[in-house]
Amino acid sequence: MEMKIIIAIDGHSSCGKSTMAKQLAKQIGYVYVDTGAMYRAVTLYAMRNGMFPDEGIREEELKKAVNNGDIHINFKFNPCTGRPDTYLNNEKVEDEIRQMAVSNRVSLIAALPFVRALLTEQQQAMGKEKGIVMDGRDIGTAVFPQAELKIFVTASAKVRAQRRYDELMGKAKTEEEKAKLNFDEILKNVEERDYLDSHRETSPLKQAKDAVVLDNSEMTIEEQNAWLLERFQEKLNK
Ligand code: DC
Repeated sequence: MEMKIIIAIDGHSSCGKSTMAKQLAKQIGYVYVDTGAMYRAVTLYAMRNGMFPDEGIREEELKKAVNNGDIHINFKFNPCTGRPDTYLNNEKVEDEIRQMAVSNRVSLIAALPFVRALLTEQQQAMGKEKGIVMDGRDIGTAVFPQAELKIFVTASAKVRAQRRYDELMGKAKTEEEKAKLNFDEILKNVEERDYLDSHRETSPLKQAKDAVVLDNSEMTIEEQNAWLLERFQEKLNK
């Protein structure tokens, strides 16, 4: 029988993790899971339910919703884009969860231990059968410490902010939306999230000891994909 493994891809925000993870999963016929989208979907739920006062988060209210089982997140493959879309309580929220309003609040949500416990459990269940590529911050350290292949991706903050800017520009539908995009604001968000992701108490972003590092500041998407595929094949041939 063909051997299937778990591939954990962790790293800083906006360094192209999901693009490369998606592409790899497609090439090797594995399931792809974007765990950042799950934290974003919980954030959207909290926003829609008025759980963000001027500062901070109404933690007890969110805990109640989690304990009541009010937040369901799942993915459905979209044949038009060839990628999975994120659903929150059966509503497609793929575009909404990528907006700055969510990006600016998600670190608060990702720092809550009860949210991490819930999502970690769901992620572990998704990887039971192996044959999965999962990207996030704590996949190789907390979700699947036993993953056969762990990649830690990084790139300079400026390069990552530029990529996020280009992505948002590409998605903007009107001139007004485009004019609202501000590179410095995006850079600030990238740097803030780096700090918060690496300094939170529960499962901070850190490189697993047995992870292979990929700095893709100077790499094209094709080069990254080729590099990743090589690492995968090396593992299988071992
Ligand atoms: O990868 P992303 O930018 O979509 O992730 C959104 C946020 O979720 C990011 O600030 C870090 C957090 N996150 C996390 O804490 N753990 C994960 N496994 C994935 C994302």
